Amino acid sequence: MNRKPIIAGNWKMFKTRDEALYFILKVSNNVPAIKDVETVVCAQAPLMRCLVKRQGENLRIGAQNMHYADEGAFTGEISGALLQSYNVDYVILGHSERRKYFHETDEDVNLKLKAALKYEIKPIVCVGENLEERQSNLTFNVLDRQVKKAIEGLSEKEVKSIVIAYEPIWAIGTGKTATAQMADEACGYIRGLVKQVVSLEASQAIRIQYGGSVNPKNIDELLSMPHIDGALIGGASLDPDHFIYMTKAALARVQK
Ligand code: 13P
Repeated sequence: MNRKPIIAGNWKMFKTRDEALYFILKVSNNVPAIKDVETVVCAQAPLMRCLVKRQGENLRIGAQNMHYADEGAFTGEISGALLQSYNVDYVILGHSERRKYFHETDEDVNLKLKAALKYEIKPIVCVGENLEERQSNLTFNVLDRQVKKAIEGLSEKEVKSIVIAYEPIWAIGTGKTATAQMADEACGYIRGLVKQVVSLEASQAIRIQYGGSVNPKNIDELLSMPHIDGALIGGASLDPDHFIYMTKAALARVQK
């Protein structure tokens, strides 16, 4: 099964308009062809317009969150309809920072996922355990609960189209990357869950990324693992040269 690698930058709450412009002008025409590697930059919502305008044919733009309602009195939230009207391609859902600081539940993530699909925005759904859960051997229990709830009620075709990002919380922003073996084991477990609750075909098609302190030094090893189809990158995605380098690492994997 040939799954196209997907390298996504999660800028979180970083970059002003000028900084985003500098990045996009440097990066937009320097990423691999979309037929080989999917490259995505997920930015703060007000940057969408400026990024979409200058994205270049091989670069995709994503948001970092959206509400599940079509519209309504939800001050400060972002609708799928608005993202769609800006031609935004991707949205990160259920990031651990959203779960922790904004109290997003597995149910919210499921509703948001369905809303994103309704507006034809591809979801990157984040799952992963915290340090205490890892140390108590609860990693698979956490993944079980998060993945099953996230994809509940989706059709096989929809499941095939989404991206799941395995992001162990203890590896995010800490410089402590999971070993390639640990990351692959968790991604393989998620693939097994998809096989169990959806189908073998869906489990072979769905793309699963690893995220957590990915950088130009460790990306090659992570991408060499059989179940890891790409990376969701925080800090190291802010630097245009590092970001381009990591997209090229994914291209090298395709060409092997
Ligand atoms: P870092 O790459 O900065 O560890 O962040 C990972 C992350 O949270 C991506 O969503």
